[in-house]
Amino acid sequence: MKQKKRIAVMISGNGSNLQALIDHQDSLGGEIVLVLSSNEEAKGLERARSVGIDGICIDSNAFEERNMYEQMMLNTLEAYEVDLIVLAGFMRILGAKFIQTYANRMMNVHPALLPSFGGPGYYGERVHQAVLDAGVRVTGATVHFVTIDTDAGPIILQECVRVHPNDTIQLLQKRVLEVEHRLLVAAVRLFCEDRLVVNKNCIEIVGMEE
Ligand code: GRF
Repeated sequence: MKQKKRIAVMISGNGSNLQALIDHQDSLGGEIVLVLSSNEEAKGLERARSVGIDGICIDSNAFEERNMYEQMMLNTLEAYEVDLIVLAGFMRILGAKFIQTYANRMMNVHPALLPSFGGPGYYGERVHQAVLDAGVRVTGATVHFVTIDTDAGPIILQECVRVHPNDTIQLLQKRVLEVEHRLLVAAVRLFCEDRLVVNKNCIEIVGMEE
């Protein structure tokens, strides 16, 4: 039997995407072995610890230089023999060495249809505010591999969400989050089944009927 992939989820806050992965652990083909948080107060840490997953906070403020902070995270991930990193609301920009170490093995979930409404400055409620300001009729969620350019890596899965005339940031955020949860679980499952083949900036999903 194939070995289960070892998954680390990196968070900074609520962790509802983490929760979706926890809720589907039995069917993921992988095991969440570690939750790394940039913030000790993150609710996601509590979610992990309450089901017996190791939850560790590494606070960047405790390090003089970003390199040292990232090296500490890399050492921790290595100690847990992590195959896949999932960024699920992780609010720090990562450096080149970190990203290269986990090239095609680190995915991120974004609350819009990339490449629209992504890149530096597009995080949290700002994404949904920008969507409403632009007057677009559809938004959605994207799961992609992480590369040096923010929100620009190969796209694994995307799904649309309609924007309604009376939408508020909160209403939109709630509907998009529901889709994020489903999409992230599906993307992690595809990774664990070795079905993602990266070809430059495009991904072929083995066995997927388009
Ligand atoms: C999600 O909207 C995700 O797309 C973005 O940050 C948010 C995290 O939400 N990167 P949660 O902590 O998983 O609830």
